[in-house]
Amino acid sequence: MTETSLHGSFAVPGDKSISHRALIFSALCKGQVTITGLSPAEDCQSTAQCMRELGLTVTADPSEPGRYTVVSPGLKGLKAPQNLLDAGNSGTTIRVMSGLVAGLPFTSRFDGDESLRKRPMSRVLDLLAQMGATVSFDAKQGCAPFSVNGTQLKGKEFNLKVASAQVQTALLLAGLQAEGSTLVTLPEIARDHTLRMFRHMGVPYTEPGENSVQVEKLEKTLGGFTIAVPADISSAAFFMVGAACLPGSDLTLLNCGMNQGRTLVIDVLKRMGANIEVLNAREVSCEPIADIRVRYNGRLRGTTIHGGEVASGVDEIPILSIAGALCDGTFTVEGAEELRHKESDRLTAITNNLSGIGATVRPTEDGFVLTGQESLQGGSTWSTHLDHRLAMTGLIVNAICKKPIKIEETESIKISYPTFQQDLEKVLQGSLLPS
Ligand code: S3P
Repeated sequence: MTETSLHGSFAVPGDKSISHRALIFSALCKGQVTITGLSPAEDCQSTAQCMRELGLTVTADPSEPGRYTVVSPGLKGLKAPQNLLDAGNSGTTIRVMSGLVAGLPFTSRFDGDESLRKRPMSRVLDLLAQMGATVSFDAKQGCAPFSVNGTQLKGKEFNLKVASAQVQTALLLAGLQAEGSTLVTLPEIARDHTLRMFRHMGVPYTEPGENSVQVEKLEKTLGGFTIAVPADISSAAFFMVGAACLPGSDLTLLNCGMNQGRTLVIDVLKRMGANIEVLNAREVSCEPIADIRVRYNGRLRGTTIHGGEVASGVDEIPILSIAGALCDGTFTVEGAEELRHKESDRLTAITNNLSGIGATVRPTEDGFVLTGQESLQGGSTWSTHLDHRLAMTGLIVNAICKKPIKIEETESIKISYPTFQQDLEKVLQGSLLPS
């Protein structure tokens, strides 16, 4: 084991999921929206640009990083995009925005980068088509590029097979423009940022059953609003795992989003015996937030991540696997097939990279089983598949392994956390405000 440890106290940048929603949901109101703490992620810039194409003005305030002013003409004032809606690498942008434009009286054409073009879009587009939208694919059925021909939609009931917050959100945005009511039921709990933001903005909805949400056509005109975006727990997760694995670490992640559909990383690390304190719990703009202190507490124990809880840590499983590789016992991930459909096939990527650094890992159809060991050798090449979360995982692995690894590329990190490397270097040196 190296001497490296993580120290300090700082806030990672704003939450990506909430930032996308703040920009997209601005279209539901007529007036000015002020967003503070907007994520600097390239994905959110893709959303901002797409929203501009629909007639919103989205302006960064140069005096405060993350402060944005959005001016929206309201749903009825949105205009047909003159250009392609380019979602870049962002699944949230393309899927959630499809739901918004499905109810608008014009055609919107979407595309994305090579990775996004491979990701499944039918899970949302087929359902929007059932509500009345016409969808046509340019090349491959079910994949970008595609066009959505918006229309007067009809409300419907949906029982989703996958607990996808993106699909749920797209259907609710369509439902707010549809005749009749729209009911969306998820198979298990997922992030509920959409509902919390609806509450914050004054969008009416009901929850008729467990994991079920119902909306009616939005008849009232909503005014502008102000929203503060918490720090992104998915970004903080890299540091949490690093601190839990590196002896001597004592790190506090400030203002961290604590949405119950996102906190699997904390639950799993606690189950493994990590010393994690949730401090100063409070609510900001209808979202729970807290400061998370992680202190190294000796070698972690094994645990199992079950299928029913995957949705609340779907983006954190790559970094959690590093804690698993170092645990005393067995670390199992089950029911995580969904990870194959993210920015890369994250199950294959994790298991290949982990065997490269000397971990004992057995891939399964929908997860993997790790037999933990006291240290990790490293010295290998870490493949990222241009996936930002794999690249950031690689940088934490590099701080943990005996021998440095060669990370294929780190450019992709800008997709979610452009200053990750600088922030990691600061806490590795312990030079941020000491806790
Ligand atoms: C997101 C939901 C998750 C997550 C993605 C962001 C969201 O996707 O992986 O990074 O903002 O709703 P799914 O809802 O498709 O699981």
